[in-house]
Amino acid sequence: MATDLSGFEVTASNAEAAAALGRGIKGFTGWSIDAVAHLDEAMAKDPDCVMASAVKGLILVGGRSDNYKGVVDSLLAAAQRGAGNANPREKLYVKALEAGAAGRPFEAATVYEAILAEHPTDLLAHRLIQQELFWTGESKWMQDTAERAAPAWNKEHSDYSGFLSVRSFSNEEGGDYETAERCGREAVEIDPRDCWGTHAVAHVLVMQGRIDDGVDWLEPLTGNWEGSNQIVHHLWWHLALFLLERGDHARILDLLDTKIRNPDSPLVQAVPDAYIDLQNVAALLMRLELRGVDIGNRWSTIADICAERIGNNASPFTNAHAAMVLAATDRFAEADQLVAAMRTFVAGDTGTLGPATRIAAIPAAEASIAHRKGEHEAVLSALLPARRNLWQMGGSHAQRDVFWQLLVDSAVKLGRTDLAHQLLDEIAGIGFERVGQRTLYGAAAA
Ligand SMILES: [Fe+2]
Repeated sequence: MATDLSGFEVTASNAEAAAALGRGIKGFTGWSIDAVAHLDEAMAKDPDCVMASAVKGLILVGGRSDNYKGVVDSLLAAAQRGAGNANPREKLYVKALEAGAAGRPFEAATVYEAILAEHPTDLLAHRLIQQELFWTGESKWMQDTAERAAPAWNKEHSDYSGFLSVRSFSNEEGGDYETAERCGREAVEIDPRDCWGTHAVAHVLVMQGRIDDGVDWLEPLTGNWEGSNQIVHHLWWHLALFLLERGDHARILDLLDTKIRNPDSPLVQAVPDAYIDLQNVAALLMRLELRGVDIGNRWSTIADICAERIGNNASPFTNAHAAMVLAATDRFAEADQLVAAMRTFVAGDTGTLGPATRIAAIPAAEASIAHRKGEHEAVLSALLPARRNLWQMGGSHAQRDVFWQLLVDSAVKLGRTDLAHQLLDEIAGIGFERVGQRTLYGAAAA
């Protein structure tokens, strides 16, 4: 029986397919740009290779776009065809894909928990469950999952640094910054190219308001990111967050054009509508404008792509950002259409995305539109009742902070100093430290 690069038995009709599958799984868990190419090769060598179909399907479920639905459904059908010959672990991955393809992320999460109960050192399951729980805002569940498995790992395991990076990020979002920083730094010590460990430590530092530490952490690692996927854009975004606190706006604008989303780069050309890229650009432009920076015509670089998200409701968090972009480019009719399509989706959805869209993403989208119009009372009306539920649309504390910044800005513009101070306290309650020393929040506090 062949094994993958983590030592798990794989069902494949030939050694070439098994080897390509192993590279594909390792590529996915390592944030490599070529993961899907290896899985495609495995499927070409063995069309019935169940894990190749299942893992590619799960990667595309993680792409969080209705545009992938047709491909995901055909990959699911292929995986189900091959499942008869598959081993019990592989069958569970097919079951996870069934749940993921149907928009049932919590059901998928329980399948990953079943895999991890049997195989706590299965990095693939750790990555996939973190992906599902992160985009549903379930940080405590994420943290519990990583901590439950931690005793099973040791330095001898080939995937150890990968697990440390998962454990680091789960603990950061769960609020244990000490464990998060220790695990993340160890992951990067073992493998300096470990983008996820790099990312997790950046999150700790931004939450703690350690701005100089953040720049000092990321700058020396930037040379290690060649060959990694869109996570690299997001790492540059994180560097920009630290630079924002330093007021280095010119450098941020340059990074936006060259690193965060360079339209001419092969990665952007390959997937121009990658959700993380849209989130990065929108949230950073909004932050810059809230600090009075002239960002030129940069909103327009992603406006058409955001308009294409009307009716695509697989990522509530992305749609909240898309509304921000459409409003910023004066495309208010399309922004309203986007929200109307979200409402239609909510009315018909029987899964978990509908409630998250209703309770968090629609208010965030409406507030973004109202803020652009200068209707600050409307920002408060939309976002104040929803603010404690924003986590339900997924994303990180650091990402969702842009909506808190909108809220604070509107409170200040309305002269509501009482409310502004209350919001700053709540932002600290989320886990942000040194809130009063940060740009925008510091001004609000004053
Ligand atoms: Fe991040």
